[in-house]
Amino acid sequence: MNLSRLVIPAITACLAGCGGEQSMFTPAGPEADKVLFLTWSMVLLFTAVFLLVMALTLAAFVAPERWRSLLRDERLVVRMGLMFPIVVLSALLGWGFWLLERAGHAGEPADITIRVEGEQWWWRVTYKLDDGSKLETANEVRIPVGALVELELVSADVLHSFWVPAWAGKMDMIPGRTNVLRFRVETPGTVRGQCAEYCGGAHALMSLYGVAMQPDAFADWLARERSTARPLQVHPGRKVFISTGCGACHQVRGVVEPGGAGPDLTHVGSRLSLGAGLLANDAGAFEAWLAHHPTLKPDNRMPTFEFLTAIERRQLAEYLDALE
Ligand code: CUA
Repeated sequence: MNLSRLVIPAITACLAGCGGEQSMFTPAGPEADKVLFLTWSMVLLFTAVFLLVMALTLAAFVAPERWRSLLRDERLVVRMGLMFPIVVLSALLGWGFWLLERAGHAGEPADITIRVEGEQWWWRVTYKLDDGSKLETANEVRIPVGALVELELVSADVLHSFWVPAWAGKMDMIPGRTNVLRFRVETPGTVRGQCAEYCGGAHALMSLYGVAMQPDAFADWLARERSTARPLQVHPGRKVFISTGCGACHQVRGVVEPGGAGPDLTHVGSRLSLGAGLLANDAGAFEAWLAHHPTLKPDNRMPTFEFLTAIERRQLAEYLDALE
C-alpha cells in the first residue's frame, strides 16, 4: 500500500487541530504572541539539534577514518553530550523566563481583576469591581480589549490549570495558593479554553469561553450582569426552583441568595454554554441537563433530582433559560 495514502491524511488531521477557537496558533494578544514565538523558536532550535545529532551519527558510520577518530574522542563526547545541553537548555530557560516575565507586566497596575476558581468540574468567575463589590458568574470570562487583565487563579478542591490558548499561556490552579496571570487581548471575539491539568473523571469536560469585548460593550454587559434576575416572576418554573431547594447551591440574585457549592445562575440564560462548555444554551439543553446530568458529566456534585416530573423539568428549564 502506498504509504503517502496513510501519512498525508494523518498529518492533515493533526494540523486541522492547530486552528479554530481553541488554538495557540491564532493568538489574540501580545502574551499569546510571545508564547507562540517561544514555541516556534524551540521547535526550530530542537530540529537543528536533532539534525546535527543525526548527521554526526551517520558520520560515525560512513565518514573517512580521520573524522571518525575525531568523533571517538572522549573530549568531544563530554563537550557535545554534557556541556552543550547544559548551556543550550539553561540559556533557553533564562530567555523563556525573561520573555514571559516581560509579558506579565510586573509592577503595572491592572485595569481589571478577576478571580477564577477551579472546581470539579467548572469555573467560578468573580469580578472584583472598582467600587469594592464583587460579581459572581461562571464558566465564561469576559474582558474588555486592550485592558491589562489580572486573573487570580485559585482552586476549591484539586489541581486544575487555566488555559485559554488564544489569550495566554496556561497556569496551574493550586489549592491553598493564588497564582496570578496577567495579559492583554487586542483582538475582540470569542475563544475557547480548557482545564489543562487532570483533575478527576470529568476533567476533559471542564471547558470555558473567553470573550474579549469592545470597552463599551463590556461596560453594558457588566451593568446587565450586575442587575438582579427579573424575568418570569410568576412562571411555574420559578416555584419549582424555589420549592425544590435549587437555591441551596445555586444563587439567583433577587430570588435566592447567597447560593453556595454550585454556579451562580442569575443570568445563566445569557451564557454561551451549559455545563462548562458541554451543551448549547437553550431550554432543551437545560431540560437535558436536568434529566441526564449524571451521564453528561459523570460524578458531578449536583444531586440527581429524579423526583421531578417531566412537566416540572420542562418548567424549570424554561425558567432558567429565561434568566438572561
Ligand atoms: Cu480541572 Cu482538569
